[in-house]
Amino acid sequence: MLQPQSRGPLPFATLFITLLFVAIASAASLVNITVDDTFGNPQENLQITYQPAGAWSPGEDCTSCAAHLDTTQVHNGTWHDTTYLADNPPSSPLTATLTFDGVAIYVYCIVTRASTNPFGNSDMTFYLDDVEVGRFLLPPNGDPTYRYSYPVYANASIPSGQHTFMLVNGRSDGQTALALLDYIVFS
Ligand SMILES: *[C@@H]1O[C@H](CO)[C@@H](O)[C@H](O)[C@H]1NC(C)=O
Ligand SMILES: *[C@@H]1O[C@H](CO)[C@@H](O)[C@H](O)[C@H]1NC(C)=O
Ligand SMILES: *[C@@H]1O[C@H](CO)[C@@H](O)[C@H](O)[C@H]1NC(C)=O
Repeated sequence: MLQPQSRGPLPFATLFITLLFVAIASAASLVNITVDDTFGNPQENLQITYQPAGAWSPGEDCTSCAAHLDTTQVHNGTWHDTTYLADNPPSSPLTATLTFDGVAIYVYCIVTRASTNPFGNSDMTFYLDDVEVGRFLLPPNGDPTYRYSYPVYANASIPSGQHTFMLVNGRSDGQTALALLDYIVFS
């Protein structure tokens, strides 16, 4: 009499436990890891690299930079500042590069739409493994407000494995463009 009844719950319990493990395993593999523009991520031994040498300035220490930010609103109190000058373009692209192992990436900048001091024109192009995957354009409109932790690029559909992300500031036929890079998150 008891046998048919006791068989019922067992497969359900097995299924439930299996699903629980699947959920835990997938949640554990998707952890957001933050890489600061300056400090990188010491646990993962990761660092963002900047090219060409000297073209990007640590913004918080930069006296010649026009952008002066609220350091309490930037990650780790640091950011990287570069300007693409349309009337004096650099001989090689202004790039920030991060090699990471993951399936998603989120890139955060500080942006402004100021017309002067600084000229807040955003014009960035993004590459994954040397393939162009996106662009962020935000022209100046006179609003001098700084927007912090602004996601300029997000991609949650990257095949798992090691990838190289590259941000390029400005482009050869474009206007003067400002980039203030704060941090990158990946999972
Ligand atoms: C990682 O951060 C992004 C952006 O905030 C968010 O959309 C995503 O759900 C987060 N992923 C995990 C696994 O926490
Ligand atoms: C940077 O910020 C993270 C998250 O708030 C913190 O864990 C880390 O210690 C900070 N690193 C430095 C060098 O301040
Ligand atoms: C995300 O990355 C994949 C792989 O590099 C690419 O094919 C896709 O176009 C990207 N999507 C976005 C929204 O950038």
